[in-house]
Order: sequence, then C-alpha cells, then structure tokens
Amino acid sequence: MAKVTVIGAGNVGATVANAVAHTGCVSDLVLIDIKEGLSEGKAMDMMQTAKLYGFDTRIKGVTNDYAATAGSDVIVVTSGIPRKPGMTREELIGVNAGIVNSVVKSALEFSPNAIFLMIANPMDTMTYLTYKTSGLPKNRVIGMGGQLDSSRFTYYISQALGAAASDVGGMVIGGHGDTTMIPLIDRATYKGLKVKELVSKEVADQIVADTMVGGATLTKLLGTSAWYAPGAAAATMVKAMVLDQKKVFPCCVALDGEYGKSDICIGVPAVIGRNGVEKVIELKLNAEEKAAFDKSAEAVNKTNGVLKEMGLVK
Ligand code: LAC
Repeated sequence: MAKVTVIGAGNVGATVANAVAHTGCVSDLVLIDIKEGLSEGKAMDMMQTAKLYGFDTRIKGVTNDYAATAGSDVIVVTSGIPRKPGMTREELIGVNAGIVNSVVKSALEFSPNAIFLMIANPMDTMTYLTYKTSGLPKNRVIGMGGQLDSSRFTYYISQALGAAASDVGGMVIGGHGDTTMIPLIDRATYKGLKVKELVSKEVADQIVADTMVGGATLTKLLGTSAWYAPGAAAATMVKAMVLDQKKVFPCCVALDGEYGKSDICIGVPAVIGRNGVEKVIELKLNAEEKAAFDKSAEAVNKTNGVLKEMGLVK
C-alpha cells in the first residue's frame, strides 16, 4: 500500500491528510510542517478518529524531518501562505515561490520516485516552478486546481438547477485564477441534458461568473483560503494515482504542443494513474473556448515570468 506525504499542516494540508486517510487507499501518511507541534498535534487528533471512522491509515506528524517522508509515492505540496480577502492568488508568488522551491528540493531528496501534486498558489506557476527546477519528468508534476474549480462549477450548476451535484457534469480548464479559469458551460450536463438548455443565458452567465470567483467568495467569508473542497479534490487525485484508476481530471499539467502550447503548466483534462499524468486529453475547443484558453495561457505565462525575474527559473 502506498505512502503519501503532505507538506504543510495548515487548513488545506490537514484536510488533504484527513480526506486521503478516509479514502482507505494509503497505508502511511506523513504530515510535515515547519511549525513545531502543529503537524504532530493534527496527526494525533486525526489518528484519534481512526477507530470512530474505521480507517487504518497511519498518519504521522513531523516538524521539518524530511527523512520521515522517505519513499513516498505521492507528495502533496500545500506549503506557503494562503490569500487574504481582496488578494489574488498571483500576489502570493513572492513569498510562496521560495518556500515551494525549498520544500520540493528537500522532499525529492528522500522520495526520488514520487509524483508531486501542487496546491500552493499561484498554483499553475508553482507547478511550472517545480517542473522546471526539479528535473522531474512532466508526468510527475501535477497541479490540483482544475479538479477543485470543476467541483465548484458543478456546485453552482446544481444550486441553479436544484439538482444533486453528483448528477451534474462540468469541467473547468485554463489557469486557476479568478480571471484565468474557463468553466466550460457549453459542455456542462445534467444527466445527458445540456445545462445551457435548462437555464436562461443570465443564469448560465452567473454560474460561470460565480465559479470563477468561487475561491475569492470563500476567502471573503472565511478571512482565509478555503480547505474542505481543496482537500477533497486533492484526495480524489491521490487516490487515482495510488490505485492506478486512470480517471480523467481537469488539472494543471506541462504542455508540450497540446492545445498549441508549450513551456507552460495549465489546466486541461488528463488521465491520472500510477504514473501521474498518463495522457493529456485534447478537447476540440470551439472558437470562443480557444480564445479564452489562449488568453488564460497568456496570463499564466505572465505570472511565470515573475519566476524568471526572481532568478528561480531560466
Ligand atoms: C482555492 C485555493 C486553494 O481556490 O486556491 O480555494
């Protein structure tokens, strides 16, 4: 059975750990943080639910001890600061790029075969940073954003329809930013019916707009970034990897000519399994979707440019 490390024991990291334990597909999970006692305490608290929920994952909390993470199959990177109300994800780059760079280096030393699942923001750029600096092949660096944004999209659709979210199909591609994400409303479905044919244009537009600022809406309510849906989204992806499910998730991957892009990590549907990204799925985008994707890629490239200015990426 698999071993997973979650770096960062804040709200998102701890929720990822908890959600992964509940999947029942991981034998060992290490939660690591720089703050003394935080991961130890959260791990112990979660382990005291093991009997109640009936899970058998051994969750261990450590402070900065990367040796304890050795031999991990998947490493989830949540470290860095979350955004505060009114901030964009992109504004976090100055602080988070250095942190992400350093934790990935430390983790890779002890788990040279791991797949890295990136959550830290700005997520597309942190995925790109890890891909460019780690020397890892492109299948082993994945960003979580699209799976989270798609879940928020199906939530807003289900609210508009008064339907069960599990009966709704919807996907968000592009960057994981308030203005860069692309909820594919024309393709959204409700049990074989097109969502677009079930709601007015105004409602459809509102679903898209609400989805795009889904994270910001929660940050405003909570005073910090959300954690339940990010944690659950990451856990579904970890499960797909360790069980080799070969499921399709919209997620951030390195493109090498697909969608006419290269030297970028951005959200597209991909088959996720034991090797991480098993395959990138190329949707036949219509003119409007393609224009939105090009615009999104341009914005992500611009944020990636900051990494170059910081001297982190050549
Ligand atoms: C969010 C953060 C995790 O969208 O990016 O909630």
